[in-house]
Amino acid sequence: MEDRKVNITAVITIIALIIFVILAHVWLKLSKAFFLIAGADIAVILAVFAYLLIRGRYQRRRKLLEKKLVSEGVELRLEYSFLRKVAGVPIKFRHEELEDATDNFQALLGQGASASVFKGILSDGTSVAVKRIDGEERGEKEFRSEVAAIASVQHVNLVRLIGYSCPPGGPRFLVYEFIPNGSLNNWIFPRRETRNGVGGCLSWNLRYKVAIDLAKALSYLHHDCRSRILHLDVKPENILLDENYRAIVADFGLAKLMGKDESRVITTIRGTRGYLAPEWLLEHGISEKSDIYSYGMVLLEMIGGRRNVSVIGNGADRSKRKWQYFPKIVRDKLKEGKLIEAVDHRLLEAGGIDESQVKRLVYVALWCIQERANLRPSMAQVVEMLEGLVPVDEPPDTNMIVLDLLSIDEEDSERPEISAIGSHVDCNIPGSSASSFVISVLSGR
Ligand SMILES: Nc1ncnc2c1ncn2[C@@H]1O[C@H](COP(=O)(O)OP(=O)(O)OP(=O)(O)O)[C@@H](O)[C@H]1O
Ligand SMILES: [Mg+2]
Repeated sequence: MEDRKVNITAVITIIALIIFVILAHVWLKLSKAFFLIAGADIAVILAVFAYLLIRGRYQRRRKLLEKKLVSEGVELRLEYSFLRKVAGVPIKFRHEELEDATDNFQALLGQGASASVFKGILSDGTSVAVKRIDGEERGEKEFRSEVAAIASVQHVNLVRLIGYSCPPGGPRFLVYEFIPNGSLNNWIFPRRETRNGVGGCLSWNLRYKVAIDLAKALSYLHHDCRSRILHLDVKPENILLDENYRAIVADFGLAKLMGKDESRVITTIRGTRGYLAPEWLLEHGISEKSDIYSYGMVLLEMIGGRRNVSVIGNGADRSKRKWQYFPKIVRDKLKEGKLIEAVDHRLLEAGGIDESQVKRLVYVALWCIQERANLRPSMAQVVEMLEGLVPVDEPPDTNMIVLDLLSIDEEDSERPEISAIGSHVDCNIPGSSASSFVISVLSGR
């Protein structure tokens, strides 16, 4: 615009000066005065031309420079976004971008205690799982724990956080890479109808590999990160399987960071009933050993293809109802030398089970669920044991405190908390009703 104005003014000036010279010639003929005016006019016209020429050159050079800077800027931005991706730095998404990606939150992949997870596809074609965390205060807490724990870590067996969105006043969102085979519970427990049709009976070999993957992921979190990361919600629902049935640990909503020099942390009780280590109830604090206990419980569920705590008999008639505690069944079978009978019967029917692997996995699981936390092996040791790099000794007998607690329940008629299957725990230990609380915490399923 500015350029056009200058050019028009210059052209008008030159035309005016030429007209002036012509008029001067008509009026003054070839007099001395005419030559003086004409000379001055021509000088001004030449000056205007020179100005236009210099200005034109300067403009061209400036435009070239601008173009160069723009292309360098684009390159820099591309490079930056590439580096963000490679380095795993999470991207901040606009809410509308997530609405578009998920087609307005249509395809529900899963629902937990505090969040709903939807399938989505980003504009660059990346498949994602968008986790919407509901609830004001708790949502904020879970969002922060999850970002703090997962944003800085990278491991093949940990889910990758792609980005997040926190629209003002609304729920918070976390955007994860999409893991196609869903959660482990759909692959080890007899199948009910799953939400998106994924699931089945995972073979023995794959179960054993999942056990190693999971141990590697937890070992990385416990030993190889700058601060020790406790997951605190290890259970089949939070373990995903990728297209090659490799285990991917997800859901860091309850995770806790712990200094490398700290041996325990005191925190409100959190996790899922049925997977919580007994030390949660002792108020002495917890450590990475609590994850190891939950890991052991998951191993047993993978071996048996069943939940660790289950009810047999008529659910309506409480007098005929009996609790079954699978870890006790495994321990008894081990003593009787009939360990194979504890294995998922679907796997026994299919065949191809390596009995030495069964024994190793059971030994490791029973070591991990020792009630005394200091007897449990570290996750790094578990990896070595499962990979057969070190021998595994027979585990010592444990009291299995849960058994006593379950029998207390037999005598108790109304325990609504026990029927809250798989529900989350995240609260302070209530002083008044400690016994009912203990039962509900340890025997959720
Ligand atoms: N990245 C993913 N790819 C595919 N499915 C996923 C992904 N993340 C989560 N899911 C599905 O959504 C379910 C719930 O996710 P998540 O465990 O993160 O939510 P939550 O509400 O925190 O659960 P919890 O009850 O354990 O707290 C999972 O069990 C899984 O089936
Ligand atoms: Mg979960």
